[in-house]
Amino acid sequence: SSPWPRLVAAGLTAVIPLAAVPSARASTGSGAYTPGSAGLGDPYFPLAGNGGYDVAHYAVRLRFTPETRRLSATTTITARATKNLSRFDLDFSGPAISEVEVNGRRASYVRKGQELVVTPRRGLPSGKKFTVMVTYAGRPKPIKDRALGVAGWIDTEDGAVALAEPDGARSWFPANDHPRDKATFTFEVTAPEGLTVLANGEPDNSGVAGPRDGYRTSKWTMRHPMAPYLAMVAIGKFTVSRGTVGGKPNITAYDPSLAKEFKRLHSTTAKAIRWESKVFGDYPFSSTGGIADRLDVDYALETQGRPVYDTGMSDELVIVHELAHQWFGDSVGLRSWKDIWLNEGFASYAEWLYQEQHGGPSAERTFAEHYRHRAGSDFWKLKTGDPGRDGMFDWNAIYVRGAMTVHALRKEIGDKTFFTLLRTWARQNRHSTVTTKDLLALAERLSGRDLDDLFDAWLYRAAKPKP
Ligand code: ARG
Ligand code: ZN
Repeated sequence: SSPWPRLVAAGLTAVIPLAAVPSARASTGSGAYTPGSAGLGDPYFPLAGNGGYDVAHYAVRLRFTPETRRLSATTTITARATKNLSRFDLDFSGPAISEVEVNGRRASYVRKGQELVVTPRRGLPSGKKFTVMVTYAGRPKPIKDRALGVAGWIDTEDGAVALAEPDGARSWFPANDHPRDKATFTFEVTAPEGLTVLANGEPDNSGVAGPRDGYRTSKWTMRHPMAPYLAMVAIGKFTVSRGTVGGKPNITAYDPSLAKEFKRLHSTTAKAIRWESKVFGDYPFSSTGGIADRLDVDYALETQGRPVYDTGMSDELVIVHELAHQWFGDSVGLRSWKDIWLNEGFASYAEWLYQEQHGGPSAERTFAEHYRHRAGSDFWKLKTGDPGRDGMFDWNAIYVRGAMTVHALRKEIGDKTFFTLLRTWARQNRHSTVTTKDLLALAERLSGRDLDDLFDAWLYRAAKPKP
């Protein structure tokens, strides 16, 4: 039956009068029309993502006014229903919504915490494509979390930067915000002519109107599938460098006040991508680059195709790390946040390998230094393969012991198989998502060994593994 009585009973306000909403069941398709779930069952983020549909494309259109820091926005989502849907959720904590349309017709909606519950006039049949357009305006707020820090829409002195790991996408656009649901993106950002706009992918100003009233629209396209948390927009004064690496555009930019710190961002990016393409295989996206700005978040983020670096994050190894994520984390994505070590362990191990191959300490030596931590010390306290939501970015458990796990695997299967594994893993799972089990299966197949005990000791015990 219609979902309305329940919503009304729950004290939620509908935009469309009840009488105007025909029963969802009146539409076609076999089987009942029921609501999509509010989450995808991720144990760390139960409300992240939503059930009942798959997103194919996000068209995010933003107009940013620096004086007021207000955003006026429309996000249009193209999706396919995976069941007969009477209604569905989006993840959204952004500013006030003025309208929601489904397939071009006004839909009713309610906001409930981070969920935006949308009820179309007609049910959405399983297997059918549909579009959702959400119009909203106001001053977006970043998502702040005691354990995870700040993500989402972040104001800077001369503009703003939006980034979102793990669940900050909802601060600036409505999304099916789980890494499992990748989609292509376009960003159309209107900002004062004196400011530069960058985003994921490549600039593509075809069909975009010229400047008007001192504002200009810039369009960027990410044509490979991307998890919402890897979406990025940067607006501000930037010094931009354009070049190529491996025949693909390399577009880097830094806040002019960071020139001293980031003057090598462009060349280091090119150097890292060249080396990584040799070790990991073909670069998975159609352009690369990087953006440095004063964010005050104290991290860098592997935003797809073009990472973002906060002040203090200009070290060559940080750049190597974020660009390694393009293979491990971005192209080869996560099915579940608890496998975050697959992202951070591989990206951190890329740093060890880079040092080993550029006159620095061997990975074995780096490993040995960390292995000295006493059994029973806090270093071994969390499980690398299941650190808990608040432990997702724990330096010791995820970054260091994640890389140690990769090294232990390398020692067990030997260099030849190990480097084949790195490339095969990246190639076979390109633009897809994986679990730790998938890695175990591939490593066992390529090495012909039983690796259960190794994975168990390094990932699923809160204890120092035996040498
Ligand atoms: N993935 C980032 C890295 O490359 C770290 C992101 C930290 N995010 C956060 N919300 N604290 O290391
Ligand atoms: Zn990382």
